[in-house]
Amino acid sequence: MHSKDVISHDEYEQAADWLLAHTKHRPQVAIICGSGLGMLSEVLEEQEVLEYTQIPGFPQSTVQGHAGRLVFGRLRGRTCVCMQGRFHMYEGYSMSKTTFPVRVFKLLGADTLVVTNAAGSLDDSLKPGDIMILKDHVNLPGLCGLNPLCGPNDERFGPRFPAMSSCYDSELRRIALEIGKQLGVGGAMREGVYAMVGGPNFESIAEARLLHRLGIDAVGMSTAPEVVVATHCGMRVFGLSLITNKVVKCYDGDDMVDHQGVLEVGRLRAQTLQTLITELVSRMDVN
Ligand code: 6GU
Repeated sequence: MHSKDVISHDEYEQAADWLLAHTKHRPQVAIICGSGLGMLSEVLEEQEVLEYTQIPGFPQSTVQGHAGRLVFGRLRGRTCVCMQGRFHMYEGYSMSKTTFPVRVFKLLGADTLVVTNAAGSLDDSLKPGDIMILKDHVNLPGLCGLNPLCGPNDERFGPRFPAMSSCYDSELRRIALEIGKQLGVGGAMREGVYAMVGGPNFESIAEARLLHRLGIDAVGMSTAPEVVVATHCGMRVFGLSLITNKVVKCYDGDDMVDHQGVLEVGRLRAQTLQTLITELVSRMDVN
């Protein structure tokens, strides 16, 4: 951790103030769209779009399938801000940069964070196209000291030693499972444990077997840092993984995972995810 990685409260405030001056919206819910899942923002009403390049202090996204813009708008009467394109550790950002937007959303007044990602399944009961509601996570980089909360603690956001034992809100998980059943996708949806790895390479077979033996259901390269920062500052969090592929765990198969395949499954499930999140947002109580 370098001292230049420390982001001051002023820098978060400058971005938040700039946004408040450039949109009429005051978001209650912030939504981070994972790889290939950005279409959710297309259904927002009274849209206002701001490019990351315009926003003071905002990092820029570099991955195919991730645009780089904030879309503000109304979803069933709730005001939302959608991140189309998130920041990953493997792009070379410091952990505090990857989570910069979350604290900005908090300063904008959002008290709920919805995170989506594309993930590979380790558990055979999860098939490509399935939706896994995050019940918990294993923040592997975090366990080794790559944590956005490292460095001086800013008490204005939260405590030095925040609990992570209930970061995924149980009521939102219950509602999401209920919506899944109502949409007829209950059989393709369950709760599970997500692990974040640093990437950018997909797992070796030995790594995949290790993670599986640790009780992890799905693996990806994002989400945990944002959830840690949101939980630290008291936001309510809901997370889901779209399972885009099975992680290769056998030496004798010819399965391979690639980024195009990940994006393709996202496109196929786009409508379901959009409906699920729209329903969830409309049913959650907000400030
Ligand atoms: Cl197989 N691994 C990781 N780390 N992330 C993924 C993935 C696999 N599939 C989609 N995202």
